[in-house]
Parts: sequence; structure tokens; C-alpha cells
Amino acid sequence: MPDSLSVRPERPDEAADPGVRINVFALAGGQAFFDALVDRFYQGVEADPELLAIYPDHADLQGARRRLALFLGQYWGGPTTYSDERGHPRLFMRHRGFPIDPAARDRWLVHMREAVAYMDPPDPIAARLLAYFDTAAEAMRNQE
Ligand code: HEM
Repeated sequence: MPDSLSVRPERPDEAADPGVRINVFALAGGQAFFDALVDRFYQGVEADPELLAIYPDHADLQGARRRLALFLGQYWGGPTTYSDERGHPRLFMRHRGFPIDPAARDRWLVHMREAVAYMDPPDPIAARLLAYFDTAAEAMRNQE
């Protein structure tokens, strides 16, 4: 179902090929990679007032960091700590309370692309991460 994302916005939560995900997690450098990626990403968010305005709880950005890092680690084949703590990701549903229009989606992506570039993983890993973030960020969009 390669092109089903537009009709199945929950798709970014799900496994593609588990073997591929395990390789991405391991080859990227395990959870430490995703922790550092998300730290860098959030530095960008915190310096971007328009994007930061979408985040409801500025006092809990440390919690937000942890949730995103654990989700990404799990998605790419790491431990299931995210779901153990939060349940099924249901990411589209969890984002419904935040106004995500194309401009917000693009700002989010700018910071995540910058974080991937900063982390500088091997090219095939970077390519997979970037392709996923493009698709998933569009799947979170809930406004025109
Ligand atoms: C690649 C796309 C994305 C992924 C994988 C993703 C992932 C996540 C995850 C895992 C959480 C924590 C959910 C929870 O357990 O409660 C979260 C929260 C959030 N996301 Fe996203 N997200 C994406 C795109 C976006 C975009 C485009 C925006 C806005 C422009 C956004 C804004 C938020 C906000 C405001 C929160 C609440 C922060 C918090 O956890 O307290 N996300 N996201």
C-alpha cells in the first residue's frame, strides 16, 4: 500500500518492514542517536516563536523531547518504551489539538531536516529518515 498515506493518516505509526527498521535503529547508533537528534530539533523549535506557539506546554518541553525521541526509536526498531508509557501512538489523533497547517508543517520540517544534517548519519540512513519525516509531517497536517 505505498500510496495509502493520504487516506490513512495513522500510517506513520506503523511498521513497514521490521527488519529494515531494526537496521535503521542500529546503524543510526541506537537510542542515543534519536535522543541527540531530538535535542537538536527542539533547539530549533525553541528558537522559532511561531512554531513554539503551537506547543501547548512550554514548561514540559523536556517531556515533549522524551516522547518524540522514544517514539522515533521505537518506530525505527528500538525498544517499545514509548508504547509501554503512552499506549498506541495514534499520532494523527494526538496532534488534532494542535493547529498544523502547511506553514507549520514546513517549519517543523525545516528544524528536523537541520537536525538530521547536524547528526550527519550515513547517507542511506539520512535518506530514510528524511523521506519518513516528509510523509509523516504531511500526515499530521489538520488544516488547509
Ligand atoms: C514527522 C512528523 C511528526 C512526528 C513523528 C511527531 C511525533 C510526535 C510525538 C511522538 C509526540 C508525543 C505524543 C504523545 O505521546 O503525547 C508529538 C507531540 C507533539 N507534536 Fe508532533 N510529530 C510530527 C509532526 C508534528 C508537526 C508537523 C507539528 C507542528 C507543526 C507537531 C507538533 C506537536 C506538538 C505541539 C506536540 C505536543 C508536544 C508534547 O509531546 O507535549 N508535530 N509529536
